[in-house]
Amino acid sequence: MEIIVTEDYESMSRSAAEIILRQLKDKPDSILGLATGSTPEGMYRCLIKAYEEGTADFSKVQTVNLDEYIGLKGTHPQSFRYYMDTKFFDWVNISKKSTYMPDGMELCIDKIADDYEKKLEEIGKRDIQILGIGGNGHIGFNEPADSFAEYVNVVELTEETIAANSRFFSDGNVPKRAVTMGIKDIMSAERIILIVSGSSKRGILKKALYGGITPKVPASILRLHPNLVVIADREAGEELEEVR
Ligand code: PGA
Repeated sequence: MEIIVTEDYESMSRSAAEIILRQLKDKPDSILGLATGSTPEGMYRCLIKAYEEGTADFSKVQTVNLDEYIGLKGTHPQSFRYYMDTKFFDWVNISKKSTYMPDGMELCIDKIADDYEKKLEEIGKRDIQILGIGGNGHIGFNEPADSFAEYVNVVELTEETIAANSRFFSDGNVPKRAVTMGIKDIMSAERIILIVSGSSKRGILKKALYGGITPKVPASILRLHPNLVVIADREAGEELEEVR
C-alpha cells in the first residue's frame, strides 16, 4: 500500500490524474473504474485540462462507474450519469458508448444488479479503480454492514448517507436506494486509487487504514488489495504515515 499526503485538494487531484494519464500513455485502451462525489471533481478537471492541452487521449478508453441512484433518469441533475457527463465525459474525446453505469431506471430491481454485473464481466478487468470514502467508511454505496456484499447489489442507503446527500436535493426527494458495485467487484481492479480530502474524513480514513478490517468500515478491506494507492490531502491525511 502506498500512502501519499499532498499539500492540498488541488495537488491531491493532480496526483490522482497523473496516475491515470501515465496509465493511458502505457495502455491507451485502458478500462477505468470511476467515481462521483465532490472528491474526484478536481481530478476530472485535471484530466480535462490534459486533454485540452493535447496530452491525453480518451478515444480508446472504456469506463465503468461504481454506482447510481435508483429511480433517477440520466438527465436528472443529481443522477451520477448526469454528473459524469457534465463534469467529465462531455469535455473529452471519449465515446459515450464506452461509458457504462448501472441503469437506475430499470424497473426490475434484480435485473439492475444482474445486468451490471454481466457488463462488468464482459468489459473485463479495470486497470484502475478510483474511489472516494464516505463519512461512514462506505466505498461506492457499500454501507457499513455485518458482512461484505460481494457483487453488484441494490442497497438501502443509511440515514447518514441520505442526510449527507440531501444538500443536493432541494425538493427533499433524496433517493433512498442505490445500486453499487460490490466489494469483490471493486477489489478485482488491477490498481485502486483512494482519494480523500478534508478534515471531516480524517477520522474515518485513519480507522480504515489502521483499525480492524471489518464490514462496519467497508473501506478497511482495501488494505488487502495488492496495489492500493491512498492519496489524501493534508487535512484528511495529517495523522497518516506516508508510505511511498
Ligand atoms: P464525497 O463522497 O466525495 O462527496 O465526499 C465520497 C463518497 O461518499 O464516496
